[in-house]
Amino acid sequence: MKIEEYLQSLPRKIISGDDVQLPTHAFLDIFKFVKINENDVFYHLGCGNGAGVFIAKEEFNVKKSVGIDLDREKITEAKKTLAEKKMQNCHFVNEDILYSKFDDATVVLFWFTDEKIIEKMIEKFKQLKKGCKIITIWGPLLGFLPDKVNFPYIINEVPFREAKDLQEQLLAVFDKRCIDFVTAWEYAERYTKAISVPQSENDRFLTIIQSLIIWINAKNLGVACGGKMPPAIKNYIGILRNFFNIEVEHLLK
Ligand SMILES: C[S@@+](CC[C@H](N)C(=O)[O-])C[C@H]1O[C@@H](n2cnc3c(N)ncnc32)[C@H](O)[C@@H]1O
Repeated sequence: MKIEEYLQSLPRKIISGDDVQLPTHAFLDIFKFVKINENDVFYHLGCGNGAGVFIAKEEFNVKKSVGIDLDREKITEAKKTLAEKKMQNCHFVNEDILYSKFDDATVVLFWFTDEKIIEKMIEKFKQLKKGCKIITIWGPLLGFLPDKVNFPYIINEVPFREAKDLQEQLLAVFDKRCIDFVTAWEYAERYTKAISVPQSENDRFLTIIQSLIIWINAKNLGVACGGKMPPAIKNYIGILRNFFNIEVEHLLK
């Protein structure tokens, strides 16, 4: 089956990302990377159970830590934890991020993949204070060059720097002149390790899929190294087809 059909067969809330919660080690890595500190006002957009909001306050002592989420149950859970922890300057808001206010933010965590949401949010982010850092995961804000990358974590700082095209954006993220199999694999592995729980058993399967997607995107954008398909990519496409019945080759333009 085509990979699109395989993805459709997975639980909807996993694919939409709504039931995906970052693990503690990811929050710690993100906050160290962005050098968050007591002068920062932190917003987690789509905060889920609020774990990131608590870590920012408890471990990094930010001035204010706010979580916004559309899901009422998740915000109720976060508020319950907040009451138990009796923490000051920590807030949770049950709102759609498209309509919420966060103009005092200095650091924003924004892990969304829906292009319609991203495009609308970029317009809101542009109005934020100069120097405000927007952290995304896997890709930078659409159309802009990243200011700092520790893949899969990416920082875009206000005011944003426009990218000439997708190629320039991709090469800035990977810090390479072209993408070969080794780069695709290394970055896929970093992503898998960053967002999964430790000792997750399907890490290898995810890394194979992610690395193929990175390489195929690079090839389609004309930034894959060399003209031919590397043997390792060919092998992994075959493994997915023969052992998992998942087809990705049609994604190549
Ligand atoms: C980690 S975020 C990422 C999910 C996102 N859908 C994606 O594309 O990757 C998941 C959280 O965002 C929340 N969420 C989704 N859409 C939202 C919105 N428009 N406003 C506020 N929270 C939202 C979900 O309830 C969930 O707790």
